Amino acid sequence: MRVGIVGATGAVGQEILKVLEKRQFPVTELRLYASARSAGKTLWFRGQALTVEPLPETPLPVDLVLASAGGSISKQYAPIWARQSVVIDNSSAFRYEPGVPLVVPEVNAHALKQHQNIIANPNCTTAILVMALYPLHKAFRARRVIVSTYQSASGAGASGIEELLQGTRRFLAGEAVEHRVFAHPLPFNVIPHIDAFQENGYTREEMKVLWETQKIIGDPSIRLSCTAVRVPTLRVHAEAVTVEFERPVSPEEAREVLRRAPGVEVVDDPAEKRYPLPISASGKFEVEVGRIRRSLVFDNGLDFFIAGDQLLKGAALNAVQIAELLLEPVPR
Ligand code: A2P
Repeated sequence: MRVGIVGATGAVGQEILKVLEKRQFPVTELRLYASARSAGKTLWFRGQALTVEPLPETPLPVDLVLASAGGSISKQYAPIWARQSVVIDNSSAFRYEPGVPLVVPEVNAHALKQHQNIIANPNCTTAILVMALYPLHKAFRARRVIVSTYQSASGAGASGIEELLQGTRRFLAGEAVEHRVFAHPLPFNVIPHIDAFQENGYTREEMKVLWETQKIIGDPSIRLSCTAVRVPTLRVHAEAVTVEFERPVSPEEAREVLRRAPGVEVVDDPAEKRYPLPISASGKFEVEVGRIRRSLVFDNGLDFFIAGDQLLKGAALNAVQIAELLLEPVPR
């Protein structure tokens, strides 16, 4: 496949390059696009130096576009790219459009069948959440879900990571910490504000988790509320999750279901201090799930904790997994 990465110099774009290489995706030609600022830069793929091109306003000469340059670029250009290529879009521009599949391969690979050349990659928090929620939902039927997130700087892209690192250095040097990407200084802080506030008091990031969970799982009756919080970690989003199920469930049964779930690693041995952590989940393809225990609030309820690499399962890995499904023959 001839592949183009739009936003190749960004935090997700660079991970896409690594994931394509690691999973030996059959790339026959790779083209890298970013803003005019990065044109001429060199990035490496399979030991080969590739030059970053400025994004043209025309269709791209590739079979597959992996787009990760933000919502406004996708909104403007994805319909143009889609004339000639299949587009896997990491932004939120098309996620809620009825004709656009929103896919986590472990959950709803079947939704791909209806694509019309634009496929949406979900919000990172949602992709990581449904990895654990969906297998449990299949087994015990989730009815109500409460999520609190601990989201890393990488969710705001390369500039978010840079702002956290710079700010931390300045903080430790006793200097004033500046902020531009985040609503407040992030070092040694937590910020309960990701994306814009909506009329109902939730942020758009929090609403995305509800909208996208319902669309991916294909069950609009699941109720969900989220509090999305930015924390000063570099990559990996963690989530504390409470779920009320229709059917009775024990922590041991839940662990059993999750041990069999693809892409999930159960890390749940508190006596040995083993539970999901941003540090252990960094760079890992699997989403870690642990601290699984019976809810003290809901009958048939569980509490658990998740840590998943936001740049991988939350973005680049999921996009490449979708691309891998496109290589498979369509079942008739
Ligand atoms: P550049 O590095 O040249 O700014 P991140 O999410 O890490 O902030 O990355 C965003 C990606 O989107 C980067 O690769 C960035 O390129 C790219 N990008 C931003 N604006 C444009 C644009 N107008 N045209 C093409 N690519 C863009």
